[in-house]
Amino acid sequence: MKQEKENDLMEKIVSLCKRRGFIFQGSEIYGGLAGTWDWGHYGVALKNNIKQNWWKKFVDNRTDMYGVDAAILMRQEVWQASGHVAGFADPMIECKKCKSKFREDQIREITRTKKSLDTGREILETGRFCTNCGNLLSEPHQFNMMFQTKVGASDDSSAISYLRPETAQGMFVNFKNTVDAFHPKLPFGMAQIGKAFRNEITPRDFLFRVREFEQMEIEYFIRPDGWEEKFEYWRSQMVSWLEEIGVDMKKVHELEVPDEDRAFYSKRTIDFEFDFPFGRKELLGLAYRTDYDLKNHKLDYIDEEQGEKMIPHVIEPSIGVDRALFALVVSVYAEDEKDGEVRSYLKFKPSIAPVICAVSPLLKNKIELVEYANTKVFAPLKEEFGRVAWDDNGNIGKRYRRQDEIGTPFCIVVDFDTLSDDAVTVRDRDTGEQTRIKVSELKNYIKERI
Ligand code: GAP
Repeated sequence: MKQEKENDLMEKIVSLCKRRGFIFQGSEIYGGLAGTWDWGHYGVALKNNIKQNWWKKFVDNRTDMYGVDAAILMRQEVWQASGHVAGFADPMIECKKCKSKFREDQIREITRTKKSLDTGREILETGRFCTNCGNLLSEPHQFNMMFQTKVGASDDSSAISYLRPETAQGMFVNFKNTVDAFHPKLPFGMAQIGKAFRNEITPRDFLFRVREFEQMEIEYFIRPDGWEEKFEYWRSQMVSWLEEIGVDMKKVHELEVPDEDRAFYSKRTIDFEFDFPFGRKELLGLAYRTDYDLKNHKLDYIDEEQGEKMIPHVIEPSIGVDRALFALVVSVYAEDEKDGEVRSYLKFKPSIAPVICAVSPLLKNKIELVEYANTKVFAPLKEEFGRVAWDDNGNIGKRYRRQDEIGTPFCIVVDFDTLSDDAVTVRDRDTGEQTRIKVSELKNYIKERI
């Protein structure tokens, strides 16, 4: 029953995201490309708000953070030094008959009954079987998840490059440039938001496991002594950021990742897991990468305070934009019922909502209402807030339903009374309450609520 409800929630969210222009399947008109999604107008707006909020908190509002936007294509030596060429692999299992591919952790050994070909009697068979055709699966082999490509016209192995599987290395390879340009004192950090690519064996669960996504990563460089304190600091920073954008913290759980499950570079990792509709899974990772990366890239730092050359250690909070957005949408998705009709809406905070307010003339064919709404309400609000929508499609009820699903906190309606009293009706998304506000006070009314 619980499972059914959760599948139902997943379906509702995926279909709302498509219907309201947030997210579409990648290459959809040609049958789709697994593990890719395209972003529509409101999806881009929401993604931008999440990224801007992260950048403001962790870069603009601090004095110890340096931004980077490194090239996605990097020389193969970067990925050899980082350990990704040798070690960034998942164990893959293949069906011997239909050739379907699975990650090893997705298939468990089971015992089932089978008719013996010799005697016709039922016998027990133990093994791992294909969920597609039921045949036996191969032994696992390592499958490297980096997308390989060639750079330039030459076809030999020196032309090999990779689409980056994490943004982190773009920061490590610019460590020296950043130190030379800005002379930062330890501790300091580098931050980057950008695309990452992983050839996932089984992309699944909407935005959760995709092949092309964005990451928001920080590499925070420290002296090794006292790393535990810095680790705790970044742990609390991640909690406060998730809270700030509106993720439901009751659905967030911290998991101390055991030795055998940690990435090859990490001495300690905490995964922040989230209760997605399909189960509890990683939302973000916080890792103590030690001096693994700088050491492998043969980079160091002159610590003027201690008067010595040393290799800084690194604490890395890393989160995918797509997973953060997915967790946020799951957190704010709500339904209520009025007069037997179910309404679904997204309870975004006004600061993060893709649309802050929508402006509607009560009737779209009454020129005086349209003109007033356009020139005296929509244009000044658009100039002030940017994320303002014009909505005159269908009756007012339909417009409210549409804006509720987009997550617009305020719907503003210009009616016949407006023409004489210069006031509009502002309807609150969550309560449905309608308030009459003077047009001259509208900007302040909204500003106070952002
Ligand atoms: N630099 C460290 C690193 O990349 P990771 O745990 O592999 O660590 C960090 O990835 C974050 O990137 C994850 O917590 C998740 O939010 C996001 N992420 C990783 N793989 C993803 C995928 N295939 N699809 C969507 N997001 C992904």
